[in-house]
Amino acid sequence: MAKNSKGQKMWGGRFSDKPSDIMQAINVSIGFDKRMAAQDIAGSKAHANMLAAQNIITDTDNAAIQVGLEDIQKEIENGTFPFRDEFEDIHLNIEARLRELIGAAAGRLHTARSRNDQVATDFRLWVRDALTGFDEQITSLQNALLSQAENHADTLMPGFTHLQVAQPVTFGHHMLAYLEMFARDKSRFSDCAKRLNESPLGAAALAGTPYPIDRDMTAQALGFDRPMANSLDAVSARDFALEALSTASICATHLSRLAEEIVIWTSAQFGFVSLSDKFTTGSSIMPQKRNPDAAELVRAKVGRIMGALTSLTIVMKGLPLAYSKDMQEDKEPVFEAFDALSLALAAMAGMVADITPNKEKLAQAAGTAFSTATDLADWLVREMAMPFRDAHHITGTIVALAESQGKALHELSIEDMQTVQPQIHEGVFDVLSPQASAASRTSFGGTAPQNVLAQVKYWKTKL
Ligand code: ARG
Repeated sequence: MAKNSKGQKMWGGRFSDKPSDIMQAINVSIGFDKRMAAQDIAGSKAHANMLAAQNIITDTDNAAIQVGLEDIQKEIENGTFPFRDEFEDIHLNIEARLRELIGAAAGRLHTARSRNDQVATDFRLWVRDALTGFDEQITSLQNALLSQAENHADTLMPGFTHLQVAQPVTFGHHMLAYLEMFARDKSRFSDCAKRLNESPLGAAALAGTPYPIDRDMTAQALGFDRPMANSLDAVSARDFALEALSTASICATHLSRLAEEIVIWTSAQFGFVSLSDKFTTGSSIMPQKRNPDAAELVRAKVGRIMGALTSLTIVMKGLPLAYSKDMQEDKEPVFEAFDALSLALAAMAGMVADITPNKEKLAQAAGTAFSTATDLADWLVREMAMPFRDAHHITGTIVALAESQGKALHELSIEDMQTVQPQIHEGVFDVLSPQASAASRTSFGGTAPQNVLAQVKYWKTKL
């Protein structure tokens, strides 16, 4: 059972009997909330300094508390801190250890504070730190995409819609599409970090406190922009965690799409790219196999991450103000989802850097399935001043003709094409190759190699 800084049971004054083993088992959270130890110590140090500055505790007691907390920090870093189930959670574990180290002064630390504002503060700090980590990891992934884009600004590949060959694009352009998505993920994480950056500390249990505390001082010491304005909200809000999880879910969705493309591209049927031994595995029975396991696992991680969002949303749904113990269930989904996202980002950055595109295969595929049919229609519009809908119809007839002869568009003779549209002339062959098609798409945001290089230049200065 949780004990106070005198070694008494934490709420022993009111209680005479021990909790049942099952009560302890369902209540204990130290197994996972120990991950917030550093944040808990930082919060306690800021709180004690403020209490001393406001003459709520003496400087002597504060000095002892500061030293004790620093010693605890070292014990945690060295792996010697005794995490004990009997003290329930990280807050009570640290307070109990502080008492063992510094004696009675430890009992003054919890003045004008509750575990409710303490846990809300710790968790915000923890999520804030994690968001900074994601920012760095996404930047690494973007750099890997950027260097592929630069090396393959003019490497052709088929662009797809409905997973059917649509129009030729460049591999670099495809890489930059993901770079853009991850840029938005980064900006969502940074919005989230800004919004969560208010301090719950000093809200106490739910109603504030009669002590003359200085919440601006603790907020500033912990790097928060300001104290939260409503004590009830401060202890009950978990939307910062939901927002971080929903942003993580969107980011994981982007990762899963890229992962899926890698799975498809590395298949024998596509053969668009290969991965090295570093990011593939073999089969225990089929000696020839090289499987894209890392990509598949990245593709799957989104399940856990969205599961975490669902899980916490359901925990929070319908909870009355202010704190309820339900909210202790907020941390595990966040920890699990963030670990999964962090690993997925690292694996994806590694895989993207490891990808070797098969240029010949990609170029050949870029020209299949009449991928330049739109270029033919556009040529008819330009050369014959034809309405696009008419050009579309004529091109469709020419495609059917090519298909019936088992030829690509550029393999048809001019006479064949003239049976459909008598004014077609040799100039049409200039637009029928996949290179010409991609190179012609110079509209802003289009796939032309020169556009890709311009975007590469832009992102190099930005990242
Ligand atoms: N371990 C608790 C949690 O994670 C700390 C807050 C406990 N507050 C309380 N009133 N029992 O939510």
